Amino acid sequence: MPSVTLTEPDDFDAWRRAARALVLAGVKPDAIIWQVGGETDLFGSKQSLPPDGALNVPRAFIDLARSVICHVDHERFALLYTLLFRLQANRHLIEDRADPLVRRLDEMAKAVRRDVHKMRAFVRFREIDGRYVAWFEPDHHIVRLNAGFFMRRFANMAWSILTPELSIHWDGKALTEGPGARKTDAPAGDPVEDVWKAYYAAIFNPARVKVGAMTKEMPKKYWKNMPETALIPGLVAAAQARESGMIATARHHAAIGGNADAAWRALRDEAASCTRCTLHQCATQTVFGEGPVEAQIMIVGEQPGDQEDLAGRPFVGPAGQVLDRALAQAGIDRSRAYVTNAVKHFKFEQRGKRRIHAKPSVGEVQACRWWIDQERAIIAPKLIVALGATAARSVFGVTTPIGASRGKPIDLPESKEGWITVHPSYLLRIVDKAQAAEEFRRFVDDLAAVRQRLR
Ligand code: URA
Repeated sequence: MPSVTLTEPDDFDAWRRAARALVLAGVKPDAIIWQVGGETDLFGSKQSLPPDGALNVPRAFIDLARSVICHVDHERFALLYTLLFRLQANRHLIEDRADPLVRRLDEMAKAVRRDVHKMRAFVRFREIDGRYVAWFEPDHHIVRLNAGFFMRRFANMAWSILTPELSIHWDGKALTEGPGARKTDAPAGDPVEDVWKAYYAAIFNPARVKVGAMTKEMPKKYWKNMPETALIPGLVAAAQARESGMIATARHHAAIGGNADAAWRALRDEAASCTRCTLHQCATQTVFGEGPVEAQIMIVGEQPGDQEDLAGRPFVGPAGQVLDRALAQAGIDRSRAYVTNAVKHFKFEQRGKRRIHAKPSVGEVQACRWWIDQERAIIAPKLIVALGATAARSVFGVTTPIGASRGKPIDLPESKEGWITVHPSYLLRIVDKAQAAEEFRRFVDDLAAVRQRLR
């Protein structure tokens, strides 16, 4: 019986090489014993693998396998091999969600992705002798999978992430690995905690708070490593009023027999793991649109900025404040509008500690139209307001000059109307005070014309 021993529990490339050779040799799934590192197998006899070769495998399988390989289930290698083997007879099996094996592997991949997200969200560094050290206890073998994210995110810091199975260390240039550690190797209590507390209070999104869901998403085992969790009870209390407003909205939809809310939630959840372009690699998270699904106005910006990327909400930073002020002056209630962006991930260049906004490419805008088109279909707003050139390109599908097109309705398919105005960041860049005031006034006028149109 062939026995394959992988050196590491998450070694996708080694698994892939072995699996490819075995499939090409026609070896049946139940004839292989898969094991990792020091594990011994009493029954399998080690044999050399058949020669490697090329195998045509659906892309979706590779994506699935890269996640599943990090799951802690010992059966993962054999399950993946079984699917790979069966795919040779039916390439479309991977799309069959009714197949129990496909479903089980999908669930495993989801669990791994959740764990990846948790590590990104809940790792908290403490400063020890000029080095930032964090302790984290993942549920799955995800530390290597996540290393690239932390290297990009904290490129200019020297840091270590310690976990029971493995430690990773970054010195600003190279990543090294070390053995597993103990929690006491990353002592608690230092000035960095204040920074995290302020950050957390600033980004706390009451609309998303469900205490049950929060404790599920943020299991107690993470709480003790996170200084800001002491703030949670107070913040939760403040969330109640907002939450009841959202429940009323959901009821409204139920009452009119629509399922727009459920559709929007499903879309938002799907977008959370979007990899349609490369921007997800450096951004903290997808920043999806927000607002009532029955909104009559949809406001589209360019892409989340630094603060939006951290908070996971559109227009909460400086540009958002300008927008809020202008909407208020134009008589538009932001909480009744649906606010979103053409591109859902923050694109930036790292300069020292700062992340500087970088303009999304036409390809990135195009890739993200997948999401905004579906937001448009679900929300079905009467009017769409594009803020700036990137948003206009996304909304109208072609480059549309702002100066010549602003302040008047432009036809969109399905009898909808599009409007164009400037982006609030443009107003923030104007140095001359009088000119800035004049441009702000024109921005308010454009928005007031939109409001007038709704009457
Ligand atoms: N700029 C945008 O276009 N969108 C945001 O969400 C924030 C800043």
